[in-house]
Amino acid sequence: MKLFEEYKIKNLILKNRLVMPPMCTYQVFKKDGMAYSFHQGHYIARAIGQVGLIIVESTGVLENGRISDYDIGLYNDKQIEPLRKIVEGIHDQGSKCAIQLNHAGRKSETLGLRHIGPSKLPYNDLEIDYEEATKEEISEVIRAFKESARRANDAGFDALEIHSAHGYLIHQFISPLSNKRQDEYGKDRFLFLKEILEGVKEVWPREKPLWIRISATDFHDEGLKVQDWINFLNENKDLVDLVNVSAGGLINVPIKAYPGYMLSLSKEIRSKTSYNTIGVGLINTSELVSYALETEMADLVAVGRGLLRNPNFLLDIAKERNKEEFIPQVYKRAY
Ligand SMILES: Cc1cc2nc3c(=O)[nH]c(=O)nc-3n(C[C@H](O)[C@H](O)[C@H](O)COP(=O)(O)O)c2cc1C
Repeated sequence: MKLFEEYKIKNLILKNRLVMPPMCTYQVFKKDGMAYSFHQGHYIARAIGQVGLIIVESTGVLENGRISDYDIGLYNDKQIEPLRKIVEGIHDQGSKCAIQLNHAGRKSETLGLRHIGPSKLPYNDLEIDYEEATKEEISEVIRAFKESARRANDAGFDALEIHSAHGYLIHQFISPLSNKRQDEYGKDRFLFLKEILEGVKEVWPREKPLWIRISATDFHDEGLKVQDWINFLNENKDLVDLVNVSAGGLINVPIKAYPGYMLSLSKEIRSKTSYNTIGVGLINTSELVSYALETEMADLVAVGRGLLRNPNFLLDIAKERNKEEFIPQVYKRAY
């Protein structure tokens, strides 16, 4: 079963193909962006469950870039140390870890801060004002991604994911539905992402993988489409090392979600560009995991809510598929 095969990209070697995708936990009750014991237990538990790659949740690059006041951040050096403990705990189990850097833009619900988007177009009717980002603010965000990437490397992360999906600031710049700017960032809607990646690459080690999470579609006729991403990725061949393919989140539209519902987007990107992909979306059974990997819809599969319910998702599959050598000795009697 391909799930149990190693995967190598740059100097990152994963012991299997299962990924825990980034999932906000909103557990920073001190509102200081610092991970604490909850985050350690939460992530290390999935490493004990033998998940090959764990991507730590959306992490704010600036205070006003957090989705909420309860998010973790990497906008100051103090925030490095608690993340290092998570990294070490994950490494102790032989798993690898990435972190997702994000600026929420017009989806930030942090209180008492100035909020920005590419244009003055709110996401919903919350009583928060969202302003069009000035050029200085755009430069500040680009610098913040770079600084946070440096901190992520200091914390020991094996890989870095730049959140360009789900309607957050980078996606807001890329989608024609939310970016109505007349300047260069409106004429080339991918420019903001490109400048962020250029900045990040100045500090992120070349041998460690760097990738983006994308929303391959806005599920709207006038929105972003998978072909836009395919064109962009083909025009920029060595931009990143991998693409984590998700969808939606820019506007409120009903989405038909069924097991594996976003895998076809991953397959399209994988087959029409030179990029490897992570596929996601209600992949909750060993059959679907096999199908996604064996039919090359994705190189890695991410299981989100399934891993929230059951940190030992992979161990259960190992038992089901007679791959008991992948169950740690300490838990063998339970199986
Ligand atoms: C509680 C929760 C929090 C999430 N937070 C994030 C996040 O921080 N960053 C992100 O890119 N996606 C986030 N997502 C989306 C997941 O990474 C994943 O793509 C989605 O849950 C679909 O996978 P699933 O059907 O296996 O759960 C979140 C999803 C859930 C359920």
